[in-house]
Amino acid sequence: MITHKRIFPALELALVMTLAGACWLARAGQDPEPTEEDRKDRLAPFVPTPENIVESMLRLAHVGKHDRVYDLGSGDGRIVIMAAQKFQAEAVGVELDDELYKKSTARIRELGLEKKAKILHMNMYKVDLTPATVVTLYLLTSVNERLKPILERDLRPGARVVTHDFKIPGWEAVKSEDVMSDTGINHKIYLYVRP
Ligand SMILES: C[S@@+](CC[C@H](N)C(=O)[O-])C[C@H]1O[C@@H](n2cnc3c(N)ncnc32)[C@H](O)[C@@H]1O
Repeated sequence: MITHKRIFPALELALVMTLAGACWLARAGQDPEPTEEDRKDRLAPFVPTPENIVESMLRLAHVGKHDRVYDLGSGDGRIVIMAAQKFQAEAVGVELDDELYKKSTARIRELGLEKKAKILHMNMYKVDLTPATVVTLYLLTSVNERLKPILERDLRPGARVVTHDFKIPGWEAVKSEDVMSDTGINHKIYLYVRP
């Protein structure tokens, strides 16, 4: 039988969880617009991860509804969108390019995902990753190398990092997978877990 004693703590918990989620997404919105200096820091071109590889990356990291996924260099927002839509996670993309930022933000709005997903228009090297439980990267090894101190500074123990095709130098992947794209090209994905 559901008693008042049992229902109120459950309602309070649900309210706290909802508010915590909303506050986090609002905080994640405090993105500084890229400066001229930031714009020179575009270190990788937009090459999208094929959709089935995006799904494999999110599965490899066991992404679920309690996760906060950050995609650094989020391009057209496909990782962020799939994390929010299919995996029920809260998801943030960080994108420097004006057009990609606008396009991905518009797509999130079109899909009605604003409460679960957002794109920050900023330099990924300036982002606060402390809320992240999962980070996804499709960037060059040299870019991953430069991100390493930020990941090591911000990520909590147990946070997962999944990379597409490029490793994080000096980190030991706990798992890797070869995945064939729908167009028949082999892709490698790596899972790292923060100690
Ligand atoms: C290879 S694409 C990956 C796109 C997406 N993550 C995916 O897997 O489909 C790399 C993206 O990083 C963005 N980028 C490059 N340097 C950046 C920086 N310093 N800050 C934020 N985004 C950046 C590029 O504009 C591009 O969209």
